[in-house]
Amino acid sequence: MGVKETERLRVAMQKSGRLADASLELLRHCGLHVSKTKNALYSRIEELPIDVLLVRDDNIPSFVSDGVCDLGIVGRNVLEEVMLRSGHDRPSFPVESVLPLGFSRCRVSIAVPESSGVRSTIELGGARVATSYPATLGHFLDRNGVSAEIVEMTGSVELAPRLKIADAICDVVSTGATLDANQLVEIATVVESEALLIKRQNGLSESKFETAERLIRRVRGVIRSANTKYIMMNAPASAVDAIASVLPGADAPTVMPLAGTAEQVAIHAVCEETVFWETMEKLKSVGARAILVLPIERMMA
Ligand code: PRP
Ligand code: ZN
Repeated sequence: MGVKETERLRVAMQKSGRLADASLELLRHCGLHVSKTKNALYSRIEELPIDVLLVRDDNIPSFVSDGVCDLGIVGRNVLEEVMLRSGHDRPSFPVESVLPLGFSRCRVSIAVPESSGVRSTIELGGARVATSYPATLGHFLDRNGVSAEIVEMTGSVELAPRLKIADAICDVVSTGATLDANQLVEIATVVESEALLIKRQNGLSESKFETAERLIRRVRGVIRSANTKYIMMNAPASAVDAIASVLPGADAPTVMPLAGTAEQVAIHAVCEETVFWETMEKLKSVGARAILVLPIERMMA
């Protein structure tokens, strides 16, 4: 594609870690292929004028705010920390969160040694808390009127209590396995996080803006179709109303006659919410038969 280097949209993504694989997969579902050569920090996408920068997640918010990149995929936990560090005043950080992506869900939590007997935030007064999220933790403690000492660490935070560097920790928890392995218990959730698509607020040229809009539209479509299913079934014509009321997140279903019978119809609908086994059982109990639930490959509203 004959687009000038400076007119290629730059997207910052995590090089390796909890966001990395899912971020690449999201682009793939958008029909974009990143040719990931070994150790390359910079990859070109062939299908659209987009370049991908593979970096540490902690650097993604500043890359986007400084204009090194135009878009980024990063956890809310990291975004909030960087924003708070740059001052509480959010408008001075020209990055907007375009949409939550539904993957890499985790939380930043405060945890203490099981044996400490501490079970609430208020009991942390005067304690030392180790974290790689000092701004987020500071903000949380202020809000809760607790004054504690924040010990900043860049990794292995879960070891701090055993090393007697701290009395508590504030760190990312996903499955909770790390806390369990270190005999730590969560006492408070500081941030609920998931991956976000973020964007520089201004300064995009017209052609970059257009590329960004195209990408964002595709991402939105991928996110929507992930939860959306196409559902088909046969039923007595008299059951159509009862069935329509059971279908989760669906507009008016399509009702079609079946060959050779006036009483039986086929019902098709797009459901924008998860179709659970319970939903299918309910459909069956109001008269539906031969129920099929199909994934939707692509969607555009
Ligand atoms: C986090 C955190 C824990 C682990 C928790 O590190 O520091 O070590 O994940 O996950 P679990 O509850 O499933 O055990 P992460 O792998 O995100 O690395 P990073 O903080 O360096 O990005
Ligand atoms: Zn990290």
